[in-house]
Amino acid sequence: MVSCVAEKWWKSRTQPNSLSWTSLSFTVGSSSHSLPFGNIFLLAQLHLEIQCASVFNLAVGFIPPTTLEIFKVSLPLMHAGIMLATGHTWKQQRRFALRTLRNLGLGKRGLEYRVQEEAHYLVDFFASMKGKPVNPAFPLVHSVSNVICAVVFGHRFSREDEAFHDLIKRMLYLGNTGIDRLPRTSCVSLPQLYEIFPWLMSRLPGPHKKALACYDVLSNFTRREIRMHTERGAPEELQDFIDFYLDHIEKVNEPRSTYNEDNMVYSINDLFLGGSETSSTTLNWGLLYMVANPDIQEKVQKELDAVLGPSKVICYEDRRELPYTNAVIHEIQRFSNIISVGMPRVCVRNTTLLGFPLKKGTIVLPNIASSLYDPEQWETPRQFNPGHFLDKDGNFVAQEAFLPFSIGHRVCLGEHLARTELFIFFASLLRAFTFCLPEGVTQVSTEPVMGGTLQPHPYRLCAIPR
Ligand code: HEM
Repeated sequence: MVSCVAEKWWKSRTQPNSLSWTSLSFTVGSSSHSLPFGNIFLLAQLHLEIQCASVFNLAVGFIPPTTLEIFKVSLPLMHAGIMLATGHTWKQQRRFALRTLRNLGLGKRGLEYRVQEEAHYLVDFFASMKGKPVNPAFPLVHSVSNVICAVVFGHRFSREDEAFHDLIKRMLYLGNTGIDRLPRTSCVSLPQLYEIFPWLMSRLPGPHKKALACYDVLSNFTRREIRMHTERGAPEELQDFIDFYLDHIEKVNEPRSTYNEDNMVYSINDLFLGGSETSSTTLNWGLLYMVANPDIQEKVQKELDAVLGPSKVICYEDRRELPYTNAVIHEIQRFSNIISVGMPRVCVRNTTLLGFPLKKGTIVLPNIASSLYDPEQWETPRQFNPGHFLDKDGNFVAQEAFLPFSIGHRVCLGEHLARTELFIFFASLLRAFTFCLPEGVTQVSTEPVMGGTLQPHPYRLCAIPR
């Protein structure tokens, strides 16, 4: 009742220029979804679908002056680190992170070795299940997170480590506190209530508060690791991200330096959050699609057997000899479309985009799904079809519309690492096991659960050793 009145009041406040509660529609798999975010997602006063570089659509709109209160929940996380930072801080932190990842072996054998090591542990884990049904989500995220941990903290965590388990659970909560997981009253969702009563909502308990508490746990974990590094002292040869950052703080001598402990913590959190759930969710979709398409799984396995044999250590470079496997992995990323709508970015000045005037303060949302599902670009956009990445002779072909990592200055910082992980983990798992549904289970849903990323519904599979 209160929420209905509130909704009416909000409508009257935002009209006549807005179209009352509207929503952002987007597609994934075979179906359409909409975000019940009201005019936060701006289809209200102006809604344009702009074709950019012929493959990338952007949903653009003017924000009413009072919008996006819900985003203020994350204000304490802004202005620092990489993902939510802007301007000078963002430039310095992003550049430093990229350079350091390269120093630590990104694009070279060093980092690839970490991925191979984790893939090996993951294969051991599935083998230990002896074909019994298991939900693969947690083992996958554990392994993928460990790659980032090795990079930033300099060590991995065992499957028995309770503190690390807790951290992953909280990270998943952060990633999955998505729109349709937030509670709804009869007419209004929590984000809408937040828009209407920001002062009140910011003081009430709820999932938004829990998400911030989870973030604090992650930050404390990171700070503890930093403390351990400072207590140990600088090694002769810098080993991990923290070593490089501490060394840089000590050496840097510029008046506008943004290198300090807070930015180090937020940058590490960004690498950890950005680099764990994304790759593991994609792999989770990948195993689900293999279970749902046993013929495709078999074809991948035949190719892996023919090219790699049973024991060769799998390298990212091997993808060149494995066009079908490579095409399947690309199609997993395209079809699962895990980051359907990219990070909201704000115009910092009045500008024109492809002839459309955009005022300062306009929020631009990259509609990633619009390129991954563009009917002009893909033969069967709503079907899982590895043929999208193959020519008629079975050679792999890259596609311009394949933009799961976004595009431009803010393109995913971990793209290369993510591609390496997806290839090595997926190929290692499919070479070692055939994945199938548990006995008696005949159907599995390939529809997504909406969250920070689009996730598969929880499911169980059996990993049968080959
Ligand atoms: C399948 C895996 C991944 C996908 C699909 C993905 C996708 C994305 C997307 C769409 C963005 C937003 C770009 C924008 O704002 O327009 C992003 C940003 C980012 N990603 Fe990834 N990502 C993945 C893996 C990773 C990994 C492994 C790392 C860590 C090494 C990482 C770190 C980041 C960071 C730090 C940003 C913020 C970049 C910035 O604001 O400058 N991501 N990613």
